[in-house]
Amino acid sequence: MLSKKMNDALNNQANRELYSAYLYLSMSYYFESIKMRGFAHWMRLQAGEELVHTMKMLDYTAGKGGRAEMLAVEAPKFSWDSPQQAFQHVWDHERAVTGLIKALVKVAEEESDEGTAEFLQWYVKEQVEEEESSDNVLNKVKAAGDDRSALEAADRLLGERAFKFPRGFEIFP
Ligand SMILES: [Fe+2]
Ligand SMILES: [Fe+2]
Repeated sequence: MLSKKMNDALNNQANRELYSAYLYLSMSYYFESIKMRGFAHWMRLQAGEELVHTMKMLDYTAGKGGRAEMLAVEAPKFSWDSPQQAFQHVWDHERAVTGLIKALVKVAEEESDEGTAEFLQWYVKEQVEEEESSDNVLNKVKAAGDDRSALEAADRLLGERAFKFPRGFEIFP
């Protein structure tokens, strides 16, 4: 059984994960609007991953006898000045999420909830990967700078990203 404090903190984080999905979807449609289809594709898959993070957390909460609650999702930014600014935003955002996950682990420890602390290790590891991949992509876009053909090459490269949804989370093919 989850404590009320733990239950609330998990619902809050699930909300932030859903916000991440919303933010990346917003970026995906921004990229589509400027005809950078590879970047749009990358963001779309990123949004799908965040939806998995959301549901995984809500499933855990419900499975532990807690109550998964859907909180209001904040509207994300709608437009960016450049691809670089958008990818910088991704990087900043993922760093902030890492901070939130660490704070959540702390709540689990304070509540002496070892099961939840252990469950959250999946998110700790995931954030290491998220930071690495967003750093990687940001560097590619930065290196392209204002060079249109280099940016198009980066766009093509990111367009090759593949992602397979885990079983039970198949959201779109
Ligand atoms: Fe996430
Ligand atoms: Fe993320």
